[in-house]
Amino acid sequence: MTVTADLAISLDGYIAGTGVTIDNPAGDGAEPLFEWIHNLASWRERQGMTGGEENRDSELMREWFDATGAVVMGRTMYDTGEEFWGDNPPFRTPVFVLTHRPRPTLVKEGGTTFTFVTDGIHDALDRAKAVAGRRNVDIAGGASTVRQYLAQGLIDELHLHVVPALLGDGLRLFEGPGLGRRDLEPLAMVATPSATHLKYRFVK
Ligand SMILES: NC(=O)c1ccc[n+]([C@@H]2O[C@H](COP(=O)([O-])OP(=O)(O)OC[C@H]3O[C@@H](n4cnc5c(N)ncnc54)[C@H](OP(=O)(O)O)[C@@H]3O)[C@@H](O)[C@H]2O)c1
Repeated sequence: MTVTADLAISLDGYIAGTGVTIDNPAGDGAEPLFEWIHNLASWRERQGMTGGEENRDSELMREWFDATGAVVMGRTMYDTGEEFWGDNPPFRTPVFVLTHRPRPTLVKEGGTTFTFVTDGIHDALDRAKAVAGRRNVDIAGGASTVRQYLAQGLIDELHLHVVPALLGDGLRLFEGPGLGRRDLEPLAMVATPSATHLKYRFVK
């Protein structure tokens, strides 16, 4: 069982822009983080659409979908994604949403369920591991959520899609208490014009 964190990040370390709200899910100036994803064949497939580009980026996205058996995310990521994901969200796995605001479990089409977890990061991870089978648990975001798991040493592999842009401002991934020094072993690097896809394993 591998716990991954898989995120798109700008070269200067931002995973969202400024002023994130439900109406502005990725924040101002964050287009370069996500625009390369929307026309990938594998992404479109998961949105119930056909067509799109079949390229290396698309293959890597498909690998992530295939490898992931459960997802953990923060309530802000959920709230800002809810409308966009619609009735048939792309995950098609159980998703555990960290929150202080309880809400009944939502069962969506295609195998995605959203379970709202109020007992903290360890409980959410345990519940995700219990249903992921042999596949990975992915800590999908946002920054606050990934940072908490990083700080506790609970992430095995970091998968970053570094987009060739400087955002200048926004939501940083690598800051805040408890991060400290961590050493990583490179596992894979694939460079395309859209992003440099990096996989690292934390040295325990
Ligand atoms: N670049 C990427 O690949 C990527 C991936 C994912 C998300 N994002 C972006 O990240 C942004 C959201 O990130 P974020 O850091 O603001 O928020 P987040 O991590 O998605 O969610 C934070 C919220 O989750 C709940 N929460 C977190 N930890 C908790 C805990 N231990 N116990 C209980 N509740 C907990 C709290 O919500 P409540 O107190 O309200 O319940 C908290 O305010 C969005 O803009 C999204 O687009 C980017």
